[in-house]
Amino acid sequence: MGVRSVLGRPGVRWGAAAAAAGAAAWSWWAFDSAPYPYAQHRLLDLPLPLLGQRRLESLLRPQRGERVLEIGPGTGLQSLRTAPRLGPEGRLDVVDVQQEMLDHVMARAAREGVTGIVPTRSDAGALPFPDGAFDAAYLVTALGETPDPGTTLTELRRVVRSGGRVVVGEFFDRHQVRRTALARHANAAGLHVTGLIGPPFAYFARLEPCRSARGHDTPPSEAHIPEAHIPGAHLPTACAPAPKGHRPEVRLAGPHPAVG
Ligand SMILES: C[S@@+](CC[C@H](N)C(=O)[O-])C[C@H]1O[C@@H](n2cnc3c(N)ncnc32)[C@H](O)[C@@H]1O
Repeated sequence: MGVRSVLGRPGVRWGAAAAAAGAAAWSWWAFDSAPYPYAQHRLLDLPLPLLGQRRLESLLRPQRGERVLEIGPGTGLQSLRTAPRLGPEGRLDVVDVQQEMLDHVMARAAREGVTGIVPTRSDAGALPFPDGAFDAAYLVTALGETPDPGTTLTELRRVVRSGGRVVVGEFFDRHQVRRTALARHANAAGLHVTGLIGPPFAYFARLEPCRSARGHDTPPSEAHIPEAHIPGAHLPTACAPAPKGHRPEVRLAGPHPAVG
């Protein structure tokens, strides 16, 4: 019986959550390196408390036929459940800076009969995809590991089409991008926060492209969760209005430091 099916049993869930939090806290001390070392991949199979697939999907809302991008799939915890949501006409591109992680995801997908996953080795700060190639993108505990989260979000804004969405999941480790920093980076990249679930130490945020090219703020989407529901969260959720007559451009990523 697999670890995840055992963890799925109701009586075991809280114990598993405590164990996962303990393991995460331990790895926080033990492996303060980015990217997360493949040698420790077994820890990635433990679902983190409050960062489960249901929460991810409630903000991502994957649809059949869509092309979706995942950055930093690790061992495929989210990929193997998201790809089937896209159906045979859809496609999940997984991008990781470590080839071992991609190989692991693909081997696991083959074993479990999951199709529609396409791996690409790349740094998230310089994505090898054309503008607007994706309907949506997501990263779970990966944004803070990238060398420059602002550049990563700028790249995501570029490769996600207008009207698309980007979902970011972050957990309390040394690399965590806090919610206010995320909102700031997002705004600078031409995205804004339209949904948020979870406490500061384990949250998912949904970002959508600004439509400031027309000089309007993007209205909150249906996914918007009022800040009043999130004690202590004072996030800028609106796009900054564009100066009159200005048609902003999305900056493309420039030279990016290599990841060792
Ligand atoms: C902590 S793991 C998270 C894995 C998975 N999303 C999960 O929740 O189990 C972070 C992942 O991000 C990848 N990563 C780190 N820096 C990256 C970068 N600059 N570009 C692309 N992927 C990166 C790592 O190789 C690793 O697979």
